[in-house]
Amino acid sequence: MNIDDAAIQAAVSTAHRDQAGEHGGKNASYIPYLASVDPALFGVSVVTADGRVFEAGDARFEFALESISKVFSMAVAMGDVGLQEFHDKVGADPTGEPFNSVISVVLHGDTPVSPLVNAGAMSTVSLITADGPEQRWERILAAQGAFAGRRITLSDAVNDSEQSTNFHNRAIAWLLYSGGTMYSDPMEACDVYTRQCSTLVTTVDLATMGATIAARGTNPVTREQVISNPALVPPMLAEMTMEGLYTASGDWAYRVGLPGKSGVGGGVLAIMPGVLAIAAFSPPLDPAGNSVRGLKAVAQIADALNLNLY
Ligand code: DON
Repeated sequence: MNIDDAAIQAAVSTAHRDQAGEHGGKNASYIPYLASVDPALFGVSVVTADGRVFEAGDARFEFALESISKVFSMAVAMGDVGLQEFHDKVGADPTGEPFNSVISVVLHGDTPVSPLVNAGAMSTVSLITADGPEQRWERILAAQGAFAGRRITLSDAVNDSEQSTNFHNRAIAWLLYSGGTMYSDPMEACDVYTRQCSTLVTTVDLATMGATIAARGTNPVTREQVISNPALVPPMLAEMTMEGLYTASGDWAYRVGLPGKSGVGGGVLAIMPGVLAIAAFSPPLDPAGNSVRGLKAVAQIADALNLNLY
């Protein structure tokens, strides 16, 4: 499937223009930094699996990656421990509960169920091979940079804001530890997880990160093979389909039909394997924690380009 440049740019520009008038949702308030980001910011980008870049609006504004980081740490952990062990230890099912649910962990015998909720993401971090938390963090940061094709940095402002308010996640980390599903010191895993959420990306970065997955693990702009084994890509996309948009994942699969991932910073990513990735950023969120404008813009672009896996 090869879509020409004019069609992609028209879809990106039209979705940005149309959805700029959408004013639903509210910035995340439980992390003070996120509450302070300008809710009017709105960027959209597409990067194709052959490395063409398209953008509209605030596509070069840097925002907090947040939960979208879970996808890239999952790739590292899957590569380290192998697909079978990763599946056995972290899981691949929707939880049916909010992304930070304690109830889901307890209902499932102190297991995480999915790598794309907070519990599973911390368990995932703990599985990454390293001499200690600093090396684990360096590996995650390097992976984010390789997916994006440029050096990604930590925002001290976001990280300080999160580290001083992440008590809920610390409780989840200890629950997992008590269930034997945390594979490093739980507070170290929570700390590294919090840092991986606190890096800054643009919409163009995010679309490039997604295009690397769409291109079976090779960054289409830098040509670096970022995912150690292309066989990891289908299970990564399956995980995104099951839980990428939390309790809205099923509605999204039904309506749009593309594996996706959102973050409470307002970022949204969707992937058409072999073809392209679509990224959007707009801070106001719906009750499930997904960017309202971001979801609408991504869905509009997918519709305009006739992209649906099913
Ligand atoms: O752990 C948290 O609560 C945040 N650092 C990230 C959560 C998040 O992005 C959920 N996504 N919609």
